[in-house]
Amino acid sequence: MGRVFVAGSINMDVVATAERHPRVGETIAGSAVLYFPGGKGANQAVAAAKLGAPTTLIGRLGKDAFGEQLRMFLAAQGVDLSFVKDTPDAHTGTAIITVADADNTIVVVPGANALVCPDDVAMPVLAKGDIAVSQFEIPQATITAFFKRARAAGATTILNPAPARKFDNELLALVDILVLNETELGLLTGRDLRDTDSHNRFADAARSLAGRDRIICVTLGKRGALALVESEPLIVAGREVEAIDTTGAGDCFVGALASQLAGGSSLRHALSYANVAASICVQRMGAAPSMPTAAEVANLLNA
Ligand code: RIB
Repeated sequence: MGRVFVAGSINMDVVATAERHPRVGETIAGSAVLYFPGGKGANQAVAAAKLGAPTTLIGRLGKDAFGEQLRMFLAAQGVDLSFVKDTPDAHTGTAIITVADADNTIVVVPGANALVCPDDVAMPVLAKGDIAVSQFEIPQATITAFFKRARAAGATTILNPAPARKFDNELLALVDILVLNETELGLLTGRDLRDTDSHNRFADAARSLAGRDRIICVTLGKRGALALVESEPLIVAGREVEAIDTTGAGDCFVGALASQLAGGSSLRHALSYANVAASICVQRMGAAPSMPTAAEVANLLNA
């Protein structure tokens, strides 16, 4: 089995729940304030580790109370933290999240995540069969350095370009599998995409990002996912579930996909597996703590 390496963000999510989201300039009463481990990198690493892949996280924490709590939580999930540095010059990444009606709004203050640098990704030793995963809550120069090392070692690279931001062709050329949602796909391709659009429309947009061997995977929430493999769409049907909090569902999909590919699964199986894992995640509050176990996913797949 290969190993999953995630270079990415680690945040404390400060979550306020309310009956609806406030409008700009409006104050409303919320119902609860909750603290959950989060950050796209940490969420993806927790998902991969809980689903059975040996997983190493590369990132930074501040030397503060949130940093200590996050380190303890991540270690308890079985994530290898040998390459997570404590950073005295910055606070631990923090996300301010409002959850209402299962939907969220998020403001991320990167803190130590902004200091994850190319030197931080120079130490871990990757090998053929490993999976290197990253997202856009750490600097792009670091991701480029990380993927160059991964490619040189024969590992597979997965980029989740979230939060959506344009990026250069040098980085795109280093990506084997691009996993993004319809908003991110719309921003990167300059198209106005809606979650109600046809599969053909998503496949068309995805084609403009596909390289010769690059796979583009568009996550479509309750509609499942669409992957473009050698220009042909592969559709994974969604699952009808009662969502209570979608925070971290995309991260769950990415971590689950990485765990299955590291274990040698086919892409088709890994995508279906990731889709089921994400459908479990949305039925729970919080990001990292809502990642499912391998037994939970297996139960649904075998049902
Ligand atoms: O993708 C969800 C994550 O985005 C949250 O955990 C929050 O920390 C932000 O990074």
